[in-house]
Amino acid sequence: MEETVGGGGFSNFSSKKSKGHEIEFVPLIGAEEQLDRLSTGIKELDRVCGGGLVAGSVILVGGDPGIGKSTLLLQVCAKVADLPAHPEVYYISGEEAIDQVRIRAKRLGLEKSPVNLAASTEIRDIITTLEKSNAAVVIIDSIQTMYLDEIESTPGSVNQVRACSYELIKLAKRKGFVLFLVGHVTKQGLVAGPRVLEHMVDTVLYFEGERGHHFRILRAVKNRYGATDEIGVFEMQDKGLVEVANPSALFLAERQGNISGSCVFAGIEGSRPVLVEIQALVSPTGYSSPKRAVVGWDSNRLAMVLAVLEARCGMNLSSQDVYLNIAGGLRISEPAADLAVALAVISSLTNKPLPSDMVIFGEIGLSGEIRAVSQPSLRLKEAKKLGFSSAIIPQGRSNDKKFSVDMNLHQIGNVQRLINLFN
Ligand code: TYD
Ligand code: MG
Repeated sequence: MEETVGGGGFSNFSSKKSKGHEIEFVPLIGAEEQLDRLSTGIKELDRVCGGGLVAGSVILVGGDPGIGKSTLLLQVCAKVADLPAHPEVYYISGEEAIDQVRIRAKRLGLEKSPVNLAASTEIRDIITTLEKSNAAVVIIDSIQTMYLDEIESTPGSVNQVRACSYELIKLAKRKGFVLFLVGHVTKQGLVAGPRVLEHMVDTVLYFEGERGHHFRILRAVKNRYGATDEIGVFEMQDKGLVEVANPSALFLAERQGNISGSCVFAGIEGSRPVLVEIQALVSPTGYSSPKRAVVGWDSNRLAMVLAVLEARCGMNLSSQDVYLNIAGGLRISEPAADLAVALAVISSLTNKPLPSDMVIFGEIGLSGEIRAVSQPSLRLKEAKKLGFSSAIIPQGRSNDKKFSVDMNLHQIGNVQRLINLFN
């Protein structure tokens, strides 16, 4: 360690000759830099990136192995390479051999696209090559396979991942190409690769979905050039990923009417309303402490909703197992789903199906009060568009009580009212 950094180093530090330049300060107001955005032609991806790919930006695409990252990025490559201006696109695979990528391209019907394909893991070689290119988009699949010879650790280790990314990012910024880094995340949450990169890149996208389901959600968790929480919805088909322009219709496609424990939540994902079916199953427990299992929602949030139903509505759930499922494999994080969860639980416990033309949203407070949530009109409009004719919504403040949507609205102020509505 340098002596100037040690204790009492201030005087040492100031006596050392400074080689720094003076930095320039500017006012907060000034001409905005117009971002140069490249539209990929895949609308779901463009939206998640904030309206297209920004030149010189670095995008980390994380997700479980086998979820479809390579498929998505190969499709992105081909789309961009086929644009009228024919931007130069480079796909560098460190995981699969050339033939494997070619087979996939053929399966996707993309083999004629002018993509530059290479299989390599040597960062030095890759940098030397890209240095001479006129690249617009570069894909590194995956960053965990890349290797920089001056770092001693093995590929995939934190040091390698960090050093390789640093070199690539520097080049992307200098040459102004869009850099996609693919990173695997394991189910155990062990994310030595991608997580250490999150602060180094401009945008972090997670590609999610359940293996057994065909929906795939591309979610922005960080974006220096756009809003986070934005999602893109895809469906994995035989011929690759297909954009889903109307996710609500898809998520509700398998809903069966007249079944207790099911209700439709009118949610918002990013800037877009999404309707999903919430399913609850309440059954007498065979265990000493009842089981609570959740797929697609926060289990702490479920515990809270159940506690409120017990404490404020006198429901007895302590001898019941409760299972909660967000149908279709979507993961919801909005507290606005509280009321829908509560209603699904009540419906299952009482074995009374809910009206199938009804949607619901609202946040529940600990005293049982129903709180207003963001963008109620947008949620209602989406529900109306999909043929729903009634809704249970928060009472809210008096000035936003009027909604210009032609639906039968039940505005409620606390959870007790919810129970009365159906008894
Ligand atoms: P892949 O893109 O290799 O996943 P990742 O790069 O995230 O590891 O996705 C592979 C899975 O997708 C594989 O299980 C097969 C499936 N798949 C399809 O269903 N249709 C297709 O057209 C393709 C190319 C893959
Ligand atoms: Mg892959």
